[in-house]
Amino acid sequence: MDKKITKAVFPVAGLGTRFLPATKASPKEMLAVVDKPLIQYAVEEAYEAGIREMIFVTGRNKRAIEDHFDTAYELESELEASGKKALLDLVHSIKPDDMDCFYVRQPKSLGLGHAVLCAEKLINQEPFAVLLADDLMVGVTPILRQMTELYAKHQCSILAVQEVPREETQRYGIVKGTQYAERLLDVSDFVEKPKPEVAPSNLAVAGRYILSPAVFENIRRQPKGAGGEIQLTDAIAALIGKEKILAFSYEGNRYDCGSKLGLLQATVDLGLAHPELGAEFKSWLALRR
Ligand code: G1P
Repeated sequence: MDKKITKAVFPVAGLGTRFLPATKASPKEMLAVVDKPLIQYAVEEAYEAGIREMIFVTGRNKRAIEDHFDTAYELESELEASGKKALLDLVHSIKPDDMDCFYVRQPKSLGLGHAVLCAEKLINQEPFAVLLADDLMVGVTPILRQMTELYAKHQCSILAVQEVPREETQRYGIVKGTQYAERLLDVSDFVEKPKPEVAPSNLAVAGRYILSPAVFENIRRQPKGAGGEIQLTDAIAALIGKEKILAFSYEGNRYDCGSKLGLLQATVDLGLAHPELGAEFKSWLALRR
C-alpha cells in the first residue's frame, strides 16, 4: 500500500544554552531570521511538502511556540478595528485552517531519539517527517518537498545529507553508503558525531528526516549513545539491513541556526533576498565593507 507523509515532528524541547542570554526566558526556536521565527520556517517547509499535522515535542519555557500557532484575539481584534487587513492576513496565515498542531511534552532532556519517541502515540505507526528547526533550509523546491517526492517513489526512510569539511564530522550524524540513484545513496553505516579519524565519510545529516515507524521500537531499545543521550542516529542505524534507508543530497542551502554564526549568515542571506528590504540592505552592506 502506498503511503503518504501526513505528519511532521518538531523536537523543540532543547534549552538553547548556546544563545544565552537571548534564550533565558524564550525558546531558541522563536529566534527570528529577518521577520519570522525559526520554527515558522520549519512549519512552512512541512506545510509546503503537503503535511498538515504538526507535532511539537516541547518542554518547559516553550509556551511562546504554542502561542505563536494559536489565535491572538487581542492583536487580531486591534488589527481588524484599525483596518490593517494585510497585517491581519499575515497573522492568520501562520496557522492555515487546514493545519493542525499537537503538543506533547518531553519530560526530561534525554536526547533527540527520546524526543522523537515522545511523539509515538500521535504518529500511529505511519511513516513521518522530523524537522530540526535550528537547521534553516532554503531551496528553490523546499527541501522536505524534495524528500516527500522521493518518498512517493521509494517508500522508505530518507535522510537529507550534505558534505561537510572532515574536521567537522564530530558535529553531525555521518552516513556512508553505495550509489543508488542520482543524488541518492543506499545507507550502509550511520554514526553519531564521530571523530574525523574514524568518520565513515564526510556526508553529514542535516535536520530533515523521513522515517519509518519501525524506528520507535529501536529508540526504545537504544542505550545511551554519543554525549550520554538517546540518539536518533543510533535508532536509525539499527534499521540498516532490515529496511532500506536512503541518504539524499538535497538541492539547496542549510544554515546552522543552532550557532550564532549560522544565524547571522541566515540573517544576511535572507535579508538580501527579502522582497521589501533586499535592495536597501544590499546598498547598506556594500557601504560597510
Ligand atoms: C542533531 C543530530 C545529528 C544531525 C544534526 C543536524 O545533532 O543528532 O545527527 O547531524 O542534528 O543538525 P545536534 O545538532 O542536535 O547536536
